[in-house]
This record gives sequence, structure tokens and C-alpha cells, in this order.
Amino acid sequence: MSQNIQIKTRFSDRFIPSISLSENKESAIAAYKKLISRSGEGNEFLGWIDLPDQITNENLSRLENTAKRIQEISDYLVVVGIGGSYLGARAVIEAIQNPFSAFDKSNSSKTQILYAGHHLDPDYHNELINFLKDKDFSVNVISKSGTTTEPAVAFRLLIDLLEEKYGKEGTKSRVVATTDASKGALKKFADDYGFETFVIPDDVGGRFSVLTPVGLLPIAVAGANIRDLVKGAQEMRTDLLDENNTTTNLAIKYAYLRNAIYQTGRKVEILVNYNPAFHYFSEWWKQLYGESEGKSQKGIFPASVDLTTDLHSMGQYIQDGERMLFETVVSFGAPKKDIELVERDGDVDGLNYLKGKQLSWVGEQATLGTLVAHTDGGVPCIELNIPKLNEFYIGQLIYFFEFACGVSGYMLGVNPFDQPGVEDYKNNMFALLGKKGYEAQKKAIEKKLGVKE
Ligand code: PA5
Repeated sequence: MSQNIQIKTRFSDRFIPSISLSENKESAIAAYKKLISRSGEGNEFLGWIDLPDQITNENLSRLENTAKRIQEISDYLVVVGIGGSYLGARAVIEAIQNPFSAFDKSNSSKTQILYAGHHLDPDYHNELINFLKDKDFSVNVISKSGTTTEPAVAFRLLIDLLEEKYGKEGTKSRVVATTDASKGALKKFADDYGFETFVIPDDVGGRFSVLTPVGLLPIAVAGANIRDLVKGAQEMRTDLLDENNTTTNLAIKYAYLRNAIYQTGRKVEILVNYNPAFHYFSEWWKQLYGESEGKSQKGIFPASVDLTTDLHSMGQYIQDGERMLFETVVSFGAPKKDIELVERDGDVDGLNYLKGKQLSWVGEQATLGTLVAHTDGGVPCIELNIPKLNEFYIGQLIYFFEFACGVSGYMLGVNPFDQPGVEDYKNNMFALLGKKGYEAQKKAIEKKLGVKE
């Protein structure tokens, strides 16, 4: 029997008027019902709700076999994707893997994951290509639409290098495309070149796709246990879909707490962690909530800090700057292995008073001290306690945050499952780049920029 993820409100209760709490509870339950009855806006993109239970043993075996094949022929796998086609994989990989494994020469058989296609910086891409020239590598190119410019450009650069190194035939076994079942340029590319392909289901949007091959394949290549990840998501799904337990439902609780705090005028939610491995999980969370809720001039702005590191950069603002903030503080139970602080002759650094204490205990005092300070400074803090940092609980957390995002988005009165703002920039960029079919939009933009005809 696994321990449960818990939400504690001892550092947020005092900021929420009780009338608002009960109103938001009611509204969260209504939003929950809308979500699970699939009667709300964007309900054509709710495939993620049942996803953990639909992943079959065959699906997992195929992913594991492909991952093994890639591992055997590659020192590096370059994951090419952006947004929802990149962040989930990186979030899990960086949460799970040893941050020093890339530098560990004794571990040279392990395939390291590199990333491209998530920006357009020429220096990064030049350096990546130079680095890969004399290495064995493969590419997993991921794009649901198959047309997003950043990954398409990066893939073009990498496939040139692959063909130069391995020829057309050799390249075939070094590219895996994860994309739509039938649409988009990437699908056509994969079919024409005979790349192995994984499908992103139509009804799963990018930021909800980490438990599809979008996330699962790179995560498996990195050596993480995708079965445990999926199992965690399955268990969380069972809990959250239990309609008889709405009062203890973790996603409903998180959704009503954050909305009740938002209504007190605190418009920015900071996801706080005390574990550097969690950095990219926060990036994934920011995309999930920002892209789902930031609509119709509404939405909580999602931000994040890594503590205690950022207490020495953002700590001052959080403590004492404009009062528009609240926090969700993520903490994990016992570390994989603790460190006991030992006595040192002479006590020159004055730390002997910590003799016999575990480093995790020191960290817990930092967390508590910060929680007290920040709430004293007027920042409500929701605590999210996770028993362990491993694949199982990361799987739980992914599903929990996705589900709570759906509930919270409906509470706000937005469609949490589209991203019209992202499409705006993509289309403007196509127009400015001179893509066929965007001529009128190009003219309109040039007019705004004051470009003479
Ligand atoms: O969540 C989303 O829908 C977006 O962030 C997309 O994932 C991102 O724009 C990449 O799109 P695509 O997978 O079509 O290349």
C-alpha cells in the first residue's frame, strides 16, 4: 500500500475567508462534474483522462524495445520538440536521473539525453552539431502538428548530420518520429523515409501528452522505469475519478484553494521546490497551467523558484515585494540516502552544533523557517507533500496536476484545453518567414511594423 500525496493548509488557511472557501469548494465540485461528464468546453481533448488505464502491456513493451534499440546504438539521444512535445520528458528525466551521470566516465554505456528544437539560437545548434560530429547518436523528433518551426528547423539540421555520418539507410534506424497518426509534414517525412513512428492521440493536447510516447519514449531511453510512472498515474486516476469522495479529492482541493487565494488578489502562484531535480518539473507545470488558464484576460500566472537557491535571489521579493503572490510548496519525504553532519576539530566554521544531524533535517528547518517567514510576509503557502521522489510518485503528480488543471480551468470559466495565443505567434512567424498561404497575414504584420510596400 503506497503512502498518499497530501495537501496541507496550515500556512494558507488564515488568508481565505470561510465564505469564499465554501463557495470555491462548491464551484470546484461543479467543475469536477463538468470535467468527468465531458460536458465542458474543449471536451474533444480529454483523452488524457483515461490514458493511464489505456496504456497496454504491449504499448509499454514496444516503447521499452525501441528504447533498448536506441540505447544499443547511441551514446546520445537528441529529443527534438518544444512546449508540450518536450517539457514533460525533460521534467521526468531530470527529476529521476543522477545529475552527474553525464560526467561519469564509468557509466559510459548509458545513453544521455540532449535537447533541441526548443528555441532558435544558432550558437546552441552549432555547438550541438559540433559536439555530435564524432559521437553515436539518434534523434526522437516530436511534434503533434508536425509543422512547428523550431523543431522542424532543428530536425533538418540533425538529419543532415545523420545522413553525413550514417548514410540514408543508417539514418533510418536512428530516427524515431512521434507525431499525428495521419496529418502534418513530420508524418509525411517519417513515411517517406521509413522512420519508426509513434502516434500522439488526437484527443490529447501537447501539454497533457507526457504519458503518451511523447514523454514515455525519451524517459525510457534515459533509463527511467516507465511502468512505475504509469502505475503512479493509474493509482492517482482511480482516486480522482472516485465520485463518492469529492471531499477528499486532492485535485478538487488544490483547485479550490488556488482559486480562493486568487480571489484575494494574489494573481501569481509560485511553485516552490527544495530539490534541484524538480526544476524542469516546475517548467512543465508552468506550461500546463499557463497555457491552460491564461485566457480571456484571466488566469493565475504560474511562476517557480528553486529553493533554497532562489532565497538568495527572489527571496527578498517574495518576502517583501508587491503582495500579489502565493506559493505551492512541494516537498519530498526521505531522500534516497541521507548525510550525517560530523564534528570537526577546532569548529572553525562554527558548525559543530549540527553534529549528528542529517542534512535532510537541516533542509526541513529551512523549509519551515521559510514557510513561517513568507506567511508572516502575507504570502499564503499551500503545502504539497510527496512521500518520495521516484517514478511512481512523479506519475501520480503528473496526473494530479493535469486533473486539477482541468478542474481549475473550468472554475475560472475558460477552456483549459486550447491554446489560441500560441497559435497566434506561430502563424505570425510563418507569415514573417514567408510561408506559402500566409501572404495576407504577412502584409498585415508589415503594416503594423511600418514596413513600406
Ligand atoms: O501544449 C501545447 O499544445 C503546445 O505547447 C505544443 O505542445 C507546442 O506548441 C508544440 O506543438 P507541436 O507538438 O505541434 O510541435
